[in-house]
Amino acid sequence: MGGTSHFEYTPVEEVSTSENSEAKYRYVIVKAPVLAGIPLRCFVWMLENGITSSFLKPRLLRDNLITRFFSTAKYKEPPMYIAQYPEEFAKLDHVESRFIQVPHSTPPAERVKAALTSLPSVKLHRQDSFRYWTIRDYADAYRNGSVTPTKVAQRFLIAVKESDERNPSMNFFINYDEKDILRQAEESTARYQKGEPLSVLDGVPVAVKDEIDCLPYPTTGLNQSLFSMVRMLCSVPWCLTFVVILSVSDFLGDFAGGSKWLHQVRKTKDDAACIKRLRECGAILVGKTNMHELGMGTTSINPHYGAPRNPYGPDRMSGGSSGGSAAIVASGLIPAALGVDGGGSVRMPAGLCGIVGMKATFGRTSNSGVIPLNWTIGMLGSLTATVEDALIMYAAVLGHLPGDRIVSIPPPPTFPVSLDLPKVEVSKLVGELKIARYSEWFNDSDESVKDGCHRALELLEQAYGNKIIEVTVPEIEEMRLAHFITMGSECYASMGADYENVGIGLAGADVRVGFAIYKAFSNMDFVAAQRMRYRQMHFFMDIFRRADVIVTPVTGCTAPPVTTKLMRFQIAGNFLGLPAISLPVGYDQYGMPIGLQIMGPPWAEATVLQLAAAVEGLCSPMKKRPEVLFDILT
Ligand SMILES: *[C@@H]1O[C@H](CO)[C@@H](O)[C@H](O)[C@H]1NC(C)=O
Ligand SMILES: *[C@@H]1O[C@H](CO)[C@@H](O)[C@H](O)[C@H]1NC(C)=O
Repeated sequence: MGGTSHFEYTPVEEVSTSENSEAKYRYVIVKAPVLAGIPLRCFVWMLENGITSSFLKPRLLRDNLITRFFSTAKYKEPPMYIAQYPEEFAKLDHVESRFIQVPHSTPPAERVKAALTSLPSVKLHRQDSFRYWTIRDYADAYRNGSVTPTKVAQRFLIAVKESDERNPSMNFFINYDEKDILRQAEESTARYQKGEPLSVLDGVPVAVKDEIDCLPYPTTGLNQSLFSMVRMLCSVPWCLTFVVILSVSDFLGDFAGGSKWLHQVRKTKDDAACIKRLRECGAILVGKTNMHELGMGTTSINPHYGAPRNPYGPDRMSGGSSGGSAAIVASGLIPAALGVDGGGSVRMPAGLCGIVGMKATFGRTSNSGVIPLNWTIGMLGSLTATVEDALIMYAAVLGHLPGDRIVSIPPPPTFPVSLDLPKVEVSKLVGELKIARYSEWFNDSDESVKDGCHRALELLEQAYGNKIIEVTVPEIEEMRLAHFITMGSECYASMGADYENVGIGLAGADVRVGFAIYKAFSNMDFVAAQRMRYRQMHFFMDIFRRADVIVTPVTGCTAPPVTTKLMRFQIAGNFLGLPAISLPVGYDQYGMPIGLQIMGPPWAEATVLQLAAAVEGLCSPMKKRPEVLFDILT
């Protein structure tokens, strides 16, 4: 028996996160044999069948690193079941000059107004480079009467039809209701006519991932977030032997109805908290974006069926799992959308589609009305074309509810003091931000991605003089496994019963493989994963005592290959609930966008936004027009 040697982890206090740490980066080479068609069907059947699975699962777990890392290793740290932050990170006194702070009780529209004060009054844009319309562009156009929200809504509906009729179809939406959209638009138009818009978001079309409750639509989205988890499975080394990559074409016939069971067991009765806040700001909610179960990972294969297409290359995937939200914003059709980020699911598609994806600190936003993984990992996020709009959306949707079971009580929210970068005092603030980079991790990505991200940092150093600190993030691979176990266990605990009762007969192969595997995790695995969370929190906080942000690429490759590289850099944002933003910094040789991720310490959304705006400004002259682009404003 090889399993008796107990690996022993060094106590966290003795593990260094400095450049010369003894902790080594573990390169995980995932050779992914493709299981599809009949072999995949057999695999699903074997996992679900009592007799074969009793043989297969222990074997899977014994061979895998999960068993070695988590069930048998020795270490001292206690579990941390939910992200808990040291108090020092809630105290912002020492850096107050960088922030505008607003009280918790500030209503959404007032918060948006406060956030606007940090934006430059003149919109700097060069005629010779491409740029998207922003939320402020919509508000300006409505205010000066060049167009009305009703007109925009009508154009929007025409453009959505056009996007569906394209070959291939863009498949942005799962559901949208013409009447409901036009009604909201007319109400907004009336408010502008009276000169009383609710906020800069009034009349601005915003789409919602189908994982967030938004009336009048049913929420059907469970499956896609599962799909992203199954994709993560592909990044777990023990799957070296059993990686399953789904092939849409093989499975459509059998499982096309798969994503339609959730709303049978969970009725949508109310808007999610974030949706209510957007309505208070006057935004027009234009429907539920695509996140179809089988539609994502392998886009180009089946043109008749729901894969949201990447506007920068319609034969490429838009990433997961908030792919529809990312694709629609990248197509210029709307300036902002909401997503949910459980394993990079906002930042990854944003990165692949060349737009900005942001998630706040765990506890900063409410998961009320967001399904299904809202206990300790999944968080609300926004997808926008610009950093400025990420700030506006953040200001609109933030805030926890008294009933949210968060452990670390957030300090009042903050916004960057100013994004007016040409101003000397602002550029000084930006330049003072210390940037941590773990080069070995950072470099574990495709050449074009690595170079693009390094170039962005060089520009930053040249323009603002930022200091880059080399660090080591120990045990990244452990974090990935721990995140996977936690996500799978929470998902099974939350959805397992409904899945067994209703879902199993309707769900697609990805979901079925996922659930079969989650069931195999033991209580030892789960608790050990939480102890890993404790260790990782220690490492990250240690780094954030020396640096203001940590930077990585968003994904290890550009769209589309479905590989582990996609999930490589985002996990800490979820497992530790850290605020993070992804933004485009260039393109590869095929014109596909490259994204940079900026991750901050707890509650430091303002810092993350501030630095992102600086990088965006430096990279904007390179901005490319997507292949598929709609304009409903002019
Ligand atoms: C998530 O939030 C919803 C709405 O607040 C709640 O009904 C549900 O129980 C929560 N947890 C899970 C795991 O879905
Ligand atoms: C990472 O890549 C950059 C740019 O290609 C290179 O200059 C640097 O030496 C590499 N560092 C490591 C640790 O691999």
